[in-house]
Amino acid sequence: MKLLVCGGAGFIGSNFVRARVSEFGDEVTVLDKLTYAGRKENLEGIDHRFVHGAIEDPASVADAIRGAEAVVNFAAETHVDRSISEPDAFVRTHSLGTFVLLEAAREHSLRYLQVSTDEVYGSIESGSFTEESPLEPSSPYSATKAGADLLVQSYSRTFDLETVICRGSNNYGPYQYPEKLIPLMILNALHGDQLPVYGDGQQVRNWLHVSDFCSGIGRVLEQGASGEVYNVGGPDECANLEVVERIIEMTGADPALLTYVTDRPGHDRRYSLSSEKIKALGWEAQHQFAQGLAETVAWYQEHAAWWEPIRSGDYRAYYERQYGKSLG
Ligand code: NAD
Ligand code: TYD
Repeated sequence: MKLLVCGGAGFIGSNFVRARVSEFGDEVTVLDKLTYAGRKENLEGIDHRFVHGAIEDPASVADAIRGAEAVVNFAAETHVDRSISEPDAFVRTHSLGTFVLLEAAREHSLRYLQVSTDEVYGSIESGSFTEESPLEPSSPYSATKAGADLLVQSYSRTFDLETVICRGSNNYGPYQYPEKLIPLMILNALHGDQLPVYGDGQQVRNWLHVSDFCSGIGRVLEQGASGEVYNVGGPDECANLEVVERIIEMTGADPALLTYVTDRPGHDRRYSLSSEKIKALGWEAQHQFAQGLAETVAWYQEHAAWWEPIRSGDYRAYYERQYGKSLG
């Protein structure tokens, strides 16, 4: 396939591009704004065309979409804490950006896949969200992602655009920017920095290895029914405190580094996805959390050259603003 992958220089996008080019021989153009989270290094050694630009910029989109047969949109601001302190870019990228991409897909009659999140459903105490569950987002991140999903569905219903939406649960694995729970805790543990657990640490996340999300997205891109939503959930749920305790054990860090800090405003207590619909397409997650987490810890231990420039760059200032502490 000839794919336009937006946001392909980020964590999940770069894993997706790597898999599509090496396993499926796809021809990929990446359109990416290269925000703090997007890095060309993530795509090193992968054959692709790169267009530096924003999805909300029609000229960049017009350039990038030439020759594409389908659009896969990963481009997003993705950190809930940043959406609380600086929501502007979330509104611009998710609302205006998705609109510009949909218009371009419509002009060229291309199949369009929107990468979305379980967070659009809000929090669930017991049981799991299905694709029919109502959208009740809590943060500016999830609210703007939900808005983008609705806009995508409107283009399917109103303009007959071929669209599919994949809602993934929390991803982990190689190339994840260290602001997120798992890489933040791994790198802090390796450096002897405090391990900041929000609130009581009993919030539950449904962990999905990035390669399983990528295979799910590929499956839906090829076989998903137009106009439909597909949940892509990981096989394991785990409370944050337990995740941090496992990382302490795997890295041999001092357990006294674990520190309870002020909770996140509007913090969702639990996410859980039912993935029966995508399983009916023949998809299944291949990674159990215990094994996947151990492999991820090893990846960060072996790839200091990847994270050192991040940890010594802008991320330090972000960390200080967010946590009121300097990194060691
Ligand atoms: P990320 O923050 O690592 O990467 C986002 C990428 O998008 C970066 O390369 C960035 O430069 C690019 N980008 C941001 N704004 C842009 C714009 N306006 N125009 C062009 N490019 C832009 O994010 P990620 O974790 O890889 O997430 C990718 C997608 O998957 C997002 O849509 C996110 O909502 C969704 N998702 C993420 C998770 C998760 O756990 N990380 C789970 C489910 C769904
Ligand atoms: P995060 O990786 O930001 O993903 P999301 O909020 O999209 O689920 O956070 C995962 C969980 O970890 C969430 O419940 C918030 C919690 N958390 C901490 O306890 N401490 C931290 O420093 C971070 C970044 C997250």
